[in-house]
Amino acid sequence: MGLMSGRKGLVLGIANDRSIAWAITEWLHREGAEIGFTHLPDTGDRPKNQNKVAKLVEPLGAKFLMPCDVCNDSHIEAVMTRAGETFGRIDFLVHSVAFAPPDDLTGPTYACSRKGFGLAMEISAYSLLAVAGAAKKQQILSDSASLLTLTYFGGEEVIPGYNLMGICKAALECGVRYLASELGPDGVRVNAISAGPVRTISAMGVGDFKQMRDLYEGVAPLRRNITADEVGKAGLFLLSDLASGITGEVLHVDCGFSTMGAPPADFAKGSVAAV
Ligand SMILES: NC(=O)c1ccc[n+]([C@@H]2O[C@H](COP(=O)([O-])OP(=O)(O)OC[C@H]3O[C@@H](n4cnc5c(N)ncnc54)[C@H](O)[C@@H]3O)[C@@H](O)[C@H]2O)c1
Repeated sequence: MGLMSGRKGLVLGIANDRSIAWAITEWLHREGAEIGFTHLPDTGDRPKNQNKVAKLVEPLGAKFLMPCDVCNDSHIEAVMTRAGETFGRIDFLVHSVAFAPPDDLTGPTYACSRKGFGLAMEISAYSLLAVAGAAKKQQILSDSASLLTLTYFGGEEVIPGYNLMGICKAALECGVRYLASELGPDGVRVNAISAGPVRTISAMGVGDFKQMRDLYEGVAPLRRNITADEVGKAGLFLLSDLASGITGEVLHVDCGFSTMGAPPADFAKGSVAAV
């Protein structure tokens, strides 16, 4: 019997097989979970996003796959209704969603537009509250449900290049703590994983990814970068009963990078331009 046998839930945020949500899904599936999925709605004639995600999740026996733009309350409500009809109540929810307009993300934070800031915050931070709120309103959260979101260290300290998304992640992490406090009396846990750099579509839009990876290899106590699979395993842990006493937590899965206050002695001077 797997760790997630008999457990039912939702995964939001798979774009392709590099997505962190996919790495978590693989572990959830391996451990026996039953899962419903969403994809970013398609805009053109061809169902490109839907097809890409369907190809991944159908072989896993996905309970459903439906479009959901987290900016649209009726989409979120429809997902929760479907989850209620399919599962009754859900035991877990993965929120692995973020976006910022490239022009607002790549410049300094003082130059980001009012509109871009609003959209980035809405998709990357508010949506966790919206999704949790819709699930609570429709009374589909089981009395030991676990919600999980994904964040990055740039929400705690300044990581040059992470810029606007760092501000969004600070809000998201604070949202995790408030949700944990508000939903805790129902037995519901809310946590985040703060992952090191993983090569995904979203990561490509943030700063210089190669430089970031080199920095982790030189500075992190384990002297390497994480793999998506390691984030997947940690996600499984937080979503399972193994983490039944953990809520309001930001778990760093970053080979220890965030514990370092300065580069280690063996870090070659000048090997990474940013340091
Ligand atoms: N890749 C990394 O290095 C890294 C590190 C730490 C945290 N994270 C976080 O992990 C999460 C997942 O990102 P990823 O790296 O797997 O990239 P990804 O691009 O695979 O996933 C981002 C997802 O957000 C979805 N999305 C964007 N706008 C949306 C909207 N309006 N409605 C619904 N969905 C929307 C996309 O469709 C995509 O599935 C993000 O929160 C990201 O900030 C990533």
